Amino acid sequence: MHRRVLYGMLAATFLVLAVLAFSQEEPTTGSQNTAQQQKTYQNMTPEERAQATRAFLGLGPEPDKAAAARGAPLFQQNCAVCHGQQARGAMGPSLITSDEVLGDTHGEQLVPYLKKGRPGKGMPAFALPSAQLKDIAEFLHLQVEEVANRGTYQVLNILIGNATKGQGYVTAHCMACHSTETFAHIGSSFHSPEQLQRNWIWPTRSRNNKLAVTATVKVPDGTTTTGHITQLSDFRIALVDSSGQRHVINREPGVEVEIKDPLAAHQEMIMTLSNDDMHNVTAYLATLK
Ligand code: HEC
Ligand code: HEC
Repeated sequence: MHRRVLYGMLAATFLVLAVLAFSQEEPTTGSQNTAQQQKTYQNMTPEERAQATRAFLGLGPEPDKAAAARGAPLFQQNCAVCHGQQARGAMGPSLITSDEVLGDTHGEQLVPYLKKGRPGKGMPAFALPSAQLKDIAEFLHLQVEEVANRGTYQVLNILIGNATKGQGYVTAHCMACHSTETFAHIGSSFHSPEQLQRNWIWPTRSRNNKLAVTATVKVPDGTTTTGHITQLSDFRIALVDSSGQRHVINREPGVEVEIKDPLAAHQEMIMTLSNDDMHNVTAYLATLK
């Protein structure tokens, strides 16, 4: 499925072996030529190392960093809610291992994909200008690069926000819907600040049944069924009702489906968050041990 990533991992293993073999050979060759023919990996600058790794892993052309920087806030505004802050997946799939992303170079494939989306599968179509979608594509390529190419990888410190400002934001924007109880001990509930951030922005539904998406389906004879959605397509809906029984209903004409997402209101709030708000809120919540 994710061939390039698998090949990448294999290639990385060979690279390590090759570097080891090379460094062992070095003393026996002894001539000055060696250094001129090929600089050892250890002697390379970080940029050279990244370049060598990129070529070796077949990562494709280098992402355009300026375009990626323009794409970052666009991604946060339009995509992060479903695909995660760093595109590593949330309710939507990880885009680091996506064939759509790995098969793209500079947006040729991704831009048309994003314009169409796959609405039947929960991936909306985006009417943004092509130039902006291209910037988002570069942002995604840079994320792949940062995961695959350890030569360029820099650990992103998520706790860069201002906790006091974060507290102000939470008081002003979160307490309309939440009580202090929601946030009690939230700072010690997750393994890492990154996980904490991911989870307050988009709480994991599987950990918490009350966040499940439910639907009420009404068929033409008037019978209604309500339950947790386990499968949803344009053609069919599968529900598990409160007694645990599974219902599969074809979405024929006359069948009405009403979907309730407990996180809908929360999601609306997320769409208004700026990057700074996000970092400040995470910094504040992390203090609530
Ligand atoms: C409301 C949630 C949601 C939003 C917002 C969203 N996506 Fe998606 N996206 C999904 C889901 C769900 C899928 C899986 C669709 C499928 O199964 O084919 C998906 C699939 C994708 C894929 C294909 C993954 C693959 O390899 O199959 C890409 C690429 C993608 N999204 C990029 C984006 C980008 C870029 C944005 C923002 C411009 C975005 N998405 C916004 C939910 C979302
Ligand atoms: C417009 C209403 C609304 C706003 C504003 C809002 N949320 Fe939510 N949020 C919800 C709803 C509804 C849920 C799901 C049910 C619940 O937990 O009450 C939820 C769930 C959560 C959860 C998961 C709770 C759990 O039990 O798993 C966290 C964490 C959270 N929100 C954090 C925040 C933070 C932080 C803010 C402000 C930056 C915020 N929310 C703003 C409506 C909102």
